[in-house]
Amino acid sequence: MSKPLRKAVLPVAGLGTRFLPATKAMAKEMLPVVDKPLIQYAIEEARAAGIEQFCMVTGRGKTALVEHFDIAFELEATLRQRGKTAELKMLHDQQLPPGSIVTVRQQEPLGLGHAIWCARAFIGEDPFAILLPDDLVLSETPCMQQLADVYAETGGCVVAVTEVPRNQTNRYGILDIESDDGRLVAVKGLVEKPKPADAPSNLSIIGRYVMLPQVIEYLARMQRGAGNEVQLTDGMAQLIGKVPFHGLRYEGRRFDCGDRIGFLEAQIAFALKRPDIGPAVRAFLKSYVKP
Ligand code: G1P
Repeated sequence: MSKPLRKAVLPVAGLGTRFLPATKAMAKEMLPVVDKPLIQYAIEEARAAGIEQFCMVTGRGKTALVEHFDIAFELEATLRQRGKTAELKMLHDQQLPPGSIVTVRQQEPLGLGHAIWCARAFIGEDPFAILLPDDLVLSETPCMQQLADVYAETGGCVVAVTEVPRNQTNRYGILDIESDDGRLVAVKGLVEKPKPADAPSNLSIIGRYVMLPQVIEYLARMQRGAGNEVQLTDGMAQLIGKVPFHGLRYEGRRFDCGDRIGFLEAQIAFALKRPDIGPAVRAFLKSYVKP
């Protein structure tokens, strides 16, 4: 039987240059979608999939990400004094057990593969999830739970995948497909950000993975790939043929919140889903966007 999935690595050291000036003095993972920061969506999604231990790979200027998961005693005292019990309850419900988050530093932006390698002591010999908080998934079953279910079936690596237009293959990790049953895709190769003409398919990886710890030994070789960075995709590709490796066409819709349009689309989609504000947002959109 395969080891249970209890750990997640969240790479959050990126500079957020695509989101300047908002991210000049603020971590991009603290940008809220409606009223919750991206990092919190990622942690909640992981917890819903049974994950108990979290490692954030951070860098300079990212302290707010750690503080966000602390207990804010002054804030709580004030809320209590003012009788704001709903807000207090919300904060308590979101509280993580003590000691469940650690951070490691990635001192230089050498790539996603390098960021994951920085978490090697946390990972040890265990399987682990990776969540890129920029990618937000709206779904019935949390995306990471869907991957965890496949991991429980196969005991191998699983990446969440979705079709992208051919002219966008150079933005993503792309699958070379061995076989495809419409839901699960057996993978025979992976290419990071190929030009459309060189792409083996248009099935792209989104920021949700279940990985086996063996990937670390390949990342440790520090081979540079696309963009002269150490790519997670290249490290994962080395595992193909050695362990089961699948892509999962997950149920749900992904929003690329590292991109202005994707971020705005996420605001609208998540707001419309909320029972408290959804109807008002829908009414506004109807009246504002004239056909
Ligand atoms: C990273 C990965 C890429 C993946 C993407 C998903 O790219 O390297 O394989 O498709 O995340 O969002 P990045 O967005 O960091 O350039």
